[in-house]
Amino acid sequence: MHSHSSKVSVIGAGAVGASMAYAMLIRESAREVVLYDINESKVTAEVLDLAHGTQFTGSSSISGGADISATANSDVVVITAGAKQNPGQTRLELAGVNFEILKSLLPDLLRYSPDAIFVLVTNPCDVLATAAQKLTGLPANRIFSSGTVLDSSRLRWLLAEKFDVSTANIHANIIGEHGDSEFALWSQATVGNTPLLEWKLADGGTLTREALDEIAYSVKTAAYKVIEGKGATNFAIGLSGARIVEAILNDEHAILPISSVLTDYHGISGIAMSVPTLVTRQGASRTIDIAMEPHEQALFEASASAIRSSLESLAL
Ligand code: LAC
Repeated sequence: MHSHSSKVSVIGAGAVGASMAYAMLIRESAREVVLYDINESKVTAEVLDLAHGTQFTGSSSISGGADISATANSDVVVITAGAKQNPGQTRLELAGVNFEILKSLLPDLLRYSPDAIFVLVTNPCDVLATAAQKLTGLPANRIFSSGTVLDSSRLRWLLAEKFDVSTANIHANIIGEHGDSEFALWSQATVGNTPLLEWKLADGGTLTREALDEIAYSVKTAAYKVIEGKGATNFAIGLSGARIVEAILNDEHAILPISSVLTDYHGISGIAMSVPTLVTRQGASRTIDIAMEPHEQALFEASASAIRSSLESLAL
């Protein structure tokens, strides 16, 4: 349920943006959902198709079009516009083309909504969140990325299935880059109050190293698999975006693995990467420190290097 006059603008009416708007209507994430795209016929059709179902979705409204002024005075702006991965293509390979699209959008979005919280979904989302923070000069809490909220949801689904436990009781996160260098923070994961690594399976044993690696690998490669089959991912990222928007608008103080520019977090500064973060009406209000085992610290640093090299390719 949304807070009164909340307004969210979703930038980009492709599969991700349209699915995100759809998720926000069904979940009533905001009072007003606006969908913007440069392709007027596409965005008009998506807005109409979404509006035609609003009898069944409660009190949220949908509007939008190809005039960016429709996004004015948004509380939250979610940016999904950009090229998507082709089958087998990495997210980092999209950096150049999507950085140009981002640069073309940010000045107007900021001009129309100077007080908004900005959420980057377009990939490579950590690289683009870092770039956007540098370009706009906004504080790190006000411009960040959905990061591994989606990957952590994929992980929790897999574990819930394996343990026959509700996802609500699976506290496990994927951290680092939303991409090929992401990893599962197994050492800190719990099932209810039980450390995940000690959780008893039906056969009385616990998850083997091979099983853990297999789960982490299937999460890391999930998008490639979905893209291979249907050309894009959209439903889960749409819901992830809606979840993040709700945590902001409802000032939830929820801990989510979003990706904001870090300051001396396990020795990493100046790049956005996913770590557990307190999400409030101020956005990414503070990162939550967590323990990491030596091998996890090494993976974290490797993930930072992957993002940093992509930023260097953008001369940032
Ligand atoms: C995925 C896209 C959103 O992981 O990066 O499905």
